[in-house]
Amino acid sequence: MMMPRAVRQASQPAEYRLFDQLPPPSAMLDEVIAGLTQQPKRIAPKFFYDERGSRLFEAITGLPEYYLTRTEMGLFDACLPEVHDRIGGGGCLVEYGAGSSVKIRRLLEELQPRTYLPVDISRRHLEQSAQALHADYPHLSVYPICADMTAPFELPAVVAGLDKLGFYPGSSIGNFEPGDAQAFLRQVATTLGAGGRLLIGVDRKKDVNVLEAAYNDSAGITAEFNLNILRHLNSALATEIDPAGFRHRADYNEESGCVQMFLECVKDQSSRVDGRIIDFAEGELVHTENSYKYGHEQFADLAAGGGFKVEASWSDADAYFTLFLLIAQ
Ligand code: TRP
Repeated sequence: MMMPRAVRQASQPAEYRLFDQLPPPSAMLDEVIAGLTQQPKRIAPKFFYDERGSRLFEAITGLPEYYLTRTEMGLFDACLPEVHDRIGGGGCLVEYGAGSSVKIRRLLEELQPRTYLPVDISRRHLEQSAQALHADYPHLSVYPICADMTAPFELPAVVAGLDKLGFYPGSSIGNFEPGDAQAFLRQVATTLGAGGRLLIGVDRKKDVNVLEAAYNDSAGITAEFNLNILRHLNSALATEIDPAGFRHRADYNEESGCVQMFLECVKDQSSRVDGRIIDFAEGELVHTENSYKYGHEQFADLAAGGGFKVEASWSDADAYFTLFLLIAQ
């Protein structure tokens, strides 16, 4: 008699294997040059996350002004038991962005997946957190995938046939332009396959003062994080852009429902970027990140366009933040 696949898999020992699908540095440099030679200038947010950037972001999640992380984690109490009831244990958990290990540990404990696939662009951060989890959860197979998750990537063949749950917390979906968010969701739906689910955290529209404080904290950690994008480029791609020549800015645009992050140039300056000179004018804004905020229905519509249906959702009493459980059509 054929044993169900999940049972066969469970009898195999837990594994650890890293899959490297990172684009070469030359592709990254081309992207940076393209962004700095257009008007207005921009640097893609994925360049935030070198090791220091990942650590600074972890510090942001604990700031008093940054309500997102604690509000999202507060929702886990009601959400995770219900998700477990719906999908059962033994499946494959795909985390988009190997972010806070505090969140993922709660999911691993409450959802009891068989395999865990964190996808992240920062290889050291990815390996460190994946190895720690592998050591602490001996029955869990861990397959970190080092990749740019904004481009299509493949799940390793070892997880074919397992039920898939994607996890995309922290309202990182808001960091895409709405059209790109929809394209990203479509890609996730394809990767997870029909019937695959996605647990996704979404920050809601709210008072402008609450939003701007969350992205411009009094301790200056967010400013340090934003400026770190330049340090990262300087060390990874040998650009020479002086971080001291810029300051952090975060403005909420009520009309678009978006917190926009910039590096504002504080003086005229010229910087070397791979053999060419890029000029920055005093007062010029270099765009680094958007953080779109969504209404409940607005997000459900976006998800529908991305190939997902809302199966359930959980929000806090102030409707500051919502966790959506989506199912791929
Ligand atoms: N996903 C986070 C958010 O949109 C990312 C973030 C938080 C961020 N603070 C930031 C990005 C400051 C750039 C600058 O809330």
